[in-house]
Amino acid sequence: MELKGAVVLVTGANRGIGAAFVEQLKARGAAKIYAAARDASSVTADGVEPIALDVTDPVQITAAARIGGDVQILINNAGISTGTSLVAGDEMTIRREMETNFYGPLLMTRAFAPILRGNGGGAILNVVSALSWFTTPGAGAYAASKAAAWMLTDSTRLELASQGTHVVGVHMGLVDTDMAKGVPAPKISPAELAAASLDAIESGAQEVLGDEWATFVKAGLALNPAERYAQIASALTAA
Ligand SMILES: NC(=O)c1ccc[n+]([C@@H]2O[C@H](COP(=O)([O-])OP(=O)(O)OC[C@H]3O[C@@H](n4cnc5c(N)ncnc54)[C@H](OP(=O)(O)O)[C@@H]3O)[C@@H](O)[C@H]2O)c1
Repeated sequence: MELKGAVVLVTGANRGIGAAFVEQLKARGAAKIYAAARDASSVTADGVEPIALDVTDPVQITAAARIGGDVQILINNAGISTGTSLVAGDEMTIRREMETNFYGPLLMTRAFAPILRGNGGGAILNVVSALSWFTTPGAGAYAASKAAAWMLTDSTRLELASQGTHVVGVHMGLVDTDMAKGVPAPKISPAELAAASLDAIESGAQEVLGDEWATFVKAGLALNPAERYAQIASALTAA
């Protein structure tokens, strides 16, 4: 699918990877970009249509779908990472992480699927994470929400195939944004990640392994858990 001339909605478009998507979409000639953010006034990019959208708010999602009846590509980018453990962590925070990272893209997909169908099929791109494929103590809630987002991606790809909607999942380790600012480890730039993701929309690829870490973690999925986590622990120690 060509991005030149396309109408695209990006969630969490005010900063981080979402803002990089907006810049790359402009550079690739998108006809209209709905830049959705919880606070629409925090969208600073020129030449876009800001929309107020909290992806955990079904009323705002319905309103966004009413405004964005011409959308051809939905980019589910918004997300949170709270550093919450599953056993000892705060239950409401675990639920908020799932609401944002899983139910958010799910409700957006349900609201926009008929619109994409009406506009020729289009595409949905879900910004997932390499943490959909492994976890660490302290990242349990985030990893669970991203594992769910991975299966959301696969399931909706199958469910929407008959209407011609191309569904892409993006997995990566660390990206240099506010979310990863406390982590002293190698990071790719938001622009690099956005470019690789948009390439997949244009090429028809279904999955983006955004960096070496995502490639490494995915390759280990066939191992048994003990071997897999030993391999991951030694790679994390070396990094
Ligand atoms: N950075 C990384 O290392 C990394 C690695 C793997 C995956 N990811 C994923 O990449 C995506 C983008 O993250 P980022 O690195 O750009 O993080 P970020 O800089 O923290 O930005 C997060 C974005 O999501 C928005 N957001 C959070 N909760 C929302 C909600 N309920 N409704 C609407 N928007 C909401 C934020 O809006 P506000 O400004 O209103 O808070 C912000 O625009 C996320 O899905 C994240 O899980 C990031």
